[in-house]
Amino acid sequence: MTTPVLEARDVTMRFGGLTAVRSVDFTVNSGEIVGLIGPNGAGKTTFFNCLTGLYVPTEGTVSYKGTVLPPKPHLVTQAGIARTFQNIRLFANMTVLENVLVGRHTRTKEGLWSALLRGPGFKKAERASEERAMELLQFIGLDHKRDHLARNLPYGEQRKLEIARALASEPGLLLLDEPTAGMNPQETRATEELVFAIRDKGVAVLLIEHDMRFVFNLCDRVAVLVQGEKLVEGTSEVVQADERVIAAYLGEPFEGDPGQAEAAEVEAAEAAAEAAADAPSTASSTKGEAK
Ligand SMILES: Nc1ncnc2c1ncn2[C@@H]1O[C@H](COP(=O)(O)OP(=O)(O)OP(=O)(O)O)[C@@H](O)[C@H]1O
Ligand SMILES: [Mg+2]
Repeated sequence: MTTPVLEARDVTMRFGGLTAVRSVDFTVNSGEIVGLIGPNGAGKTTFFNCLTGLYVPTEGTVSYKGTVLPPKPHLVTQAGIARTFQNIRLFANMTVLENVLVGRHTRTKEGLWSALLRGPGFKKAERASEERAMELLQFIGLDHKRDHLARNLPYGEQRKLEIARALASEPGLLLLDEPTAGMNPQETRATEELVFAIRDKGVAVLLIEHDMRFVFNLCDRVAVLVQGEKLVEGTSEVVQADERVIAAYLGEPFEGDPGQAEAAEVEAAEAAAEAAADAPSTASSTKGEAK
């Protein structure tokens, strides 16, 4: 029997006359990686904001491990939900390590006075925090850059650092809003492995992503949001095959896409082989054509 980590019931978010999220029921179970997909403006980020207390939903409730969450971001983080943002939010002028340490503040008991006086309790807590932060940096592969300023990291590493900072609050559920946006294919592959590793550490993951290959490779379950409403929910296979999803979002090209890429690769390899075979006899003419 699986336990729900997250349970959203009948969540609606209206902005004036616009209903960005409409009566969405949503569950994430422990051990799961769940995807949330849908066209631009479908309400995915708004839904995340409702889950994390950034927005107070017009209607509905959000529960974490059976307890209804108050719609306040710091209380949601404290309860055990951490997130990253669609637009990276790091402290640009802080170091990599400092950014992760900021993420730990909800988990350290030492108060303001203790920090100001820098008593033994604070120093001990600080050491433990730093150790844990370094562990997380190692886990995401950024420990060698601990003293670099966040703003000097390449884009893909900034996204990873954001994940480390979110993990620093020791969440039971991690929400990722477009974690591979702006990444190259290698970085995307590495992020895939990272998400699996996070799940294997006992953290459930809910992610928004437009890279369908990434979503369908990773997710145990995928929900499709269209115009604020949950259109379909199911395994990757079920969602990929659903006519309504294809019509509303995926479109026909997706089905042929991996095949097309393969075909292009084969074509390129054939052309290269042909060129190599022709090379001895037509070397001079080929050179001429290349100019
Ligand atoms: N604070 C706000 N005030 C008013 N309207 C908003 C606000 N936040 C979002 N919206 C509107 O709600 C709708 C859903 O936006 P949202 O950002 O949630 O979409 P999304 O699915 O995350 O899209 P994308 O894939 O482009 O990130 C949009 O029409 C957007 O303009
Ligand atoms: Mg969004």
